[in-house]
Amino acid sequence: MDDSIAILDFGSQYTQLIARRVREAHVYCELFPWDAPPKDVLALQPRGFILSGGPASVYDPGAPRLPDYVLEQSVPVLGICYGMQLLARRLGGRVARAAKREYGPAEIEFIGPDNPMFADLQSLNLQVWMSHGDRIEKIPPDFDALARSVNSPVAAMGDLSRQLYGLQFHPEVVHTERGAEILRRFAVEVCGCAPDWTPAAFVERAVAAIRAQVGTGQVVCGLSGGVDSSVTATLAHRAVGDQLTCIFVNTGMLRQGEPAQVVQTFRERLGMRLVPVDATEEFLSALSGVTDPERKRRIIGERFIRVFEREAGKLGDARFLAQGTLYPDVIESRGPERQTAARIKTHHNVGGLPEDMAFELVEPLRYLFKDEARAAGEALELPEEIVWRQPFPGPGLAVRILGEITWERLETLRAADGIFLDELEAAGLLRQATQQSFAVLLPVQSVGVMGDERTYQDVIALRAVTTEDFMTADWARLDYELLARVSNRIVNEVAGVNRVVYDITSKPPATIEWE
Ligand code: XMP
Repeated sequence: MDDSIAILDFGSQYTQLIARRVREAHVYCELFPWDAPPKDVLALQPRGFILSGGPASVYDPGAPRLPDYVLEQSVPVLGICYGMQLLARRLGGRVARAAKREYGPAEIEFIGPDNPMFADLQSLNLQVWMSHGDRIEKIPPDFDALARSVNSPVAAMGDLSRQLYGLQFHPEVVHTERGAEILRRFAVEVCGCAPDWTPAAFVERAVAAIRAQVGTGQVVCGLSGGVDSSVTATLAHRAVGDQLTCIFVNTGMLRQGEPAQVVQTFRERLGMRLVPVDATEEFLSALSGVTDPERKRRIIGERFIRVFEREAGKLGDARFLAQGTLYPDVIESRGPERQTAARIKTHHNVGGLPEDMAFELVEPLRYLFKDEARAAGEALELPEEIVWRQPFPGPGLAVRILGEITWERLETLRAADGIFLDELEAAGLLRQATQQSFAVLLPVQSVGVMGDERTYQDVIALRAVTTEDFMTADWARLDYELLARVSNRIVNEVAGVNRVVYDITSKPPATIEWE
């Protein structure tokens, strides 16, 4: 069992960031809803607890409470914002509504006795991020005030003998100077966790866990070529070799060269048993005449399941299904308050299979964030173009062809998209400068002139965005010369296209995809 920290989620928008920061310090941690069954949390044998912030006020009727088992463990506890107020109230302090809500940057100065949380930071004044309506009016007995700001006489507090700490500010957000260091100090110095949770250690443990789960059984895995399924398949292959069979469904909606690349990488280079299935005709005929984006998604999602079931059935007696589920999917599917977020588009996760399939799931990435899955891919020495691949929607090019999907239109889009990606790659821009970039085929024709001829042909829109989380995005300020080159090449090399435009809208109000 790794040294680990349990984070109880009281509903702050920043809770996932706490987990990220702790893991960046190479300490394993998991997030739990504040009212999770104690046995689930304690199964982790945490060496410390972090209580997140949250939108409630500790005096609201029905506000989330501090569960008893937390303090009963006699391990260090760090309460952040609402978490700090819970600690204060439980241990005999007083919390009250602040005369002035404090939201945004503030400067804190350290005032308390020396302590392992702040150590050498104590000689500094730090810029921190505040976001609270309540504040501590009286600290509990045995606690010291450790820091203050203009609006918060108690910006940090601690009971140094019991190792209980509270921070009014948010150390997990980037706007708090040295915040990551404060969280690292809590995990490593205060809780005594060994900072040995590295990608290589993860790979080793995941391989052992898969071996233990699967034994001599057969495993199938739907491989899409994206980073999640690629890392999952590679871990499973390392664990059980030829007991694993990967199924790669070519929906016909993939980008230029993708099917060949997947076969080349996984079958030839990594030596996996791979069954490539070309289901292009089947998908194209199911999509014939369909223009509504949500219908396209539904048809592709359902068809994918059917094809996968059929192919898996041919393999005989596979009992296990390996899937690249990531931690954010797990967190999102269990936090009731997060399920209500408005659905803008149905994100049918193609490759995500229904639960009633008669398989036992193998989900080695279930507790990883996307960048940790990439780090695991690097530790597994997967090729860079797979580890750093931009996200590609499950329905693929179907939602990048506005209007009806035909083979000819797919080929037009593939060629234009291939040119755009080639040029971005050649300019070294595919990783940092834009997190998602692609071409879209519009359902309109426009007039042009080529040679002495009037033309009436297709329009390609180029989309490239910068984003951290794909929830909001800005359009990438690509170099004009690069855009000129791409446009030139597309109109010259792709038959039937006479115009190229660049999308300069952010998200919101637009979305990243056009459908
Ligand atoms: P939007 O267009 O909503 O996209 O700004 C946000 C991110 O989600 C991806 N996306 C999808 N992924 N199935 C997927 O697996 C889908 O139906 C789907 N639609 C959008 C999109 O590519 C972007 O990364």
